[in-house]
Amino acid sequence: MELPEEYKKNYKYFLGSKIDLSLRPLIPRQETEYWVSLILKEIKEGSRCLDLFAGSGCIGVSILKNVKNTFCDFGEIDKNLLKQIEINLKGIESDRYKIIETDIFSNIPGKYDFILTNPPYVAINRTDEVSADVLEYEPHLALFSGDKGMDAIVKLIEDAHEHLNENGLLVIEHDESQKDDIEKLINRGGYSRYEFCKDYFNEYRFVKIYG
Ligand SMILES: C[S@@+](CC[C@H](N)C(=O)[O-])C[C@H]1O[C@@H](n2cnc3c(N)ncnc32)[C@H](O)[C@@H]1O
Repeated sequence: MELPEEYKKNYKYFLGSKIDLSLRPLIPRQETEYWVSLILKEIKEGSRCLDLFAGSGCIGVSILKNVKNTFCDFGEIDKNLLKQIEINLKGIESDRYKIIETDIFSNIPGKYDFILTNPPYVAINRTDEVSADVLEYEPHLALFSGDKGMDAIVKLIEDAHEHLNENGLLVIEHDESQKDDIEKLINRGGYSRYEFCKDYFNEYRFVKIYG
């Protein structure tokens, strides 16, 4: 099986930023780039942001490079990827970010205006739908999260409310099949309102949840 092109080159462009992939984080996806490009328009100067499940750090790097005077922390469980995020933050003022080793919110103390997340959400019982090269080369910790792919999302929705400032926004990328389960969790979570949004294939792909 051929190594993916992006790992051969060791980089991929994400919203105009060259993202280093030398430590083999998940290769940033076009569907992620799509919703991040929309959310970037809502982030105001001076906002405090969190890129949780950060991987390469592509989401937070886009915020810091595209919106002036923002702050962005990065949360990631995989120690190796903390170094990857640092590599991708080269050239950005070090007082604008922190890189935090964390299991979802376990080591995240603060509150944020924006929490942007692309958690692992592939269902273990749908492994046969994942392409062979992804299974062979991409980190499984970035892909799978329990039988229904919901384990990380359940914890995320349960705990994010207390990490959002008033009117703060939590964004979660997910699979269309998870929409109904996610809606039930949001309704139990104490949030003020939410909106499920479609991608360019007309599929529900991310949800905006307000604190
Ligand atoms: C789908 S990848 C997203 C990477 C990047 N944000 C992107 O959009 O390309 C999910 C990331 O979450 C990390 N992760 C998995 N479980 C986690 C947990 N419990 N707490 C924090 N990070 C976790 C994985 O190591 C992986 O880097």
